[in-house]
Amino acid sequence: MKTPELITDPASWQARCTAAREGGTRIALVTTMGYLHEGHLSLMREARRRADAGGRRGLAVGTIFVNPTQFGPTEDLARYPRDLEGDLAKCAAAGLDAVLAPSDPAQMFAPGHETWVTVERASQGLDGASRPGHFRGVATVVAKLFNLTRPHVALFGEKDWQQLAVIRAMVRDLAFGIEIVGMPIVREPDGLALSSRNAYLSPDERRRALALSGALAEAREAAARGERDAAALRAGARARLEAAGGRVDYVELVHPETLAPVARAEPGSVLLLAAFFGTTRLIDNGRLP
Ligand code: PAF
Repeated sequence: MKTPELITDPASWQARCTAAREGGTRIALVTTMGYLHEGHLSLMREARRRADAGGRRGLAVGTIFVNPTQFGPTEDLARYPRDLEGDLAKCAAAGLDAVLAPSDPAQMFAPGHETWVTVERASQGLDGASRPGHFRGVATVVAKLFNLTRPHVALFGEKDWQQLAVIRAMVRDLAFGIEIVGMPIVREPDGLALSSRNAYLSPDERRRALALSGALAEAREAAARGERDAAALRAGARARLEAAGGRVDYVELVHPETLAPVARAEPGSVLLLAAFFGTTRLIDNGRLP
């Protein structure tokens, strides 16, 4: 197991990746904010596989950067969990060749930075409504990481369903020419979706947060029995979250690609949930049968 090359300076990273790309190497990228868990590692292993897909060894790379521009003023930027040493060991085990981990946010957003990427429709509603400016920060940093890395393929988790839609729209509209791959949610054996923010939960909050995956399972069962009314499905999920003491941010049933709310569940409609357990806001989602 080889430790990945660690690069902290974006300019050196860009030179490294440009040289690889110009040498004909296939590049697969996973962007993260660190504090890696099995969900990230599933993306990294798939990046390894896809980098090598051309029949010769490619470059599987990752970035670790807690992006300040996607946090609101009252959010958890200062206390966001960090563990660079542990993360590098995990990147090594997942087969990454190199990792960009800027040591100072000013390396990515220098004083005077004034260019922002706004994905208009996909950023509306849901997390976009609850976290104003969040997707502008995500789209801008991902666009910059794409430009620094120029990957052929980039992988993102489906847990952040709206983020994936925002990135797909950005890549399409700005002609990045990068294949975007969505990867399934990874869960604990008891159903809790993996998230770096799970580290904030007390044992009691963690137990109550199982209402998220429980509500999704109930909605899937109801849909399988023939319940198609979105209002009824949403009400069932909300009741389950509230019964567990969750403070619901939103419960929405949407079209999987447009994210437009639907009145009747169709096969593939996505139920999106966001709720606070204690002070920790968690999201989860699932497609209906
Ligand atoms: O999903 C994340 O961890 C972040 O939003 C991302 C895509 C790395 C951008 O900072």
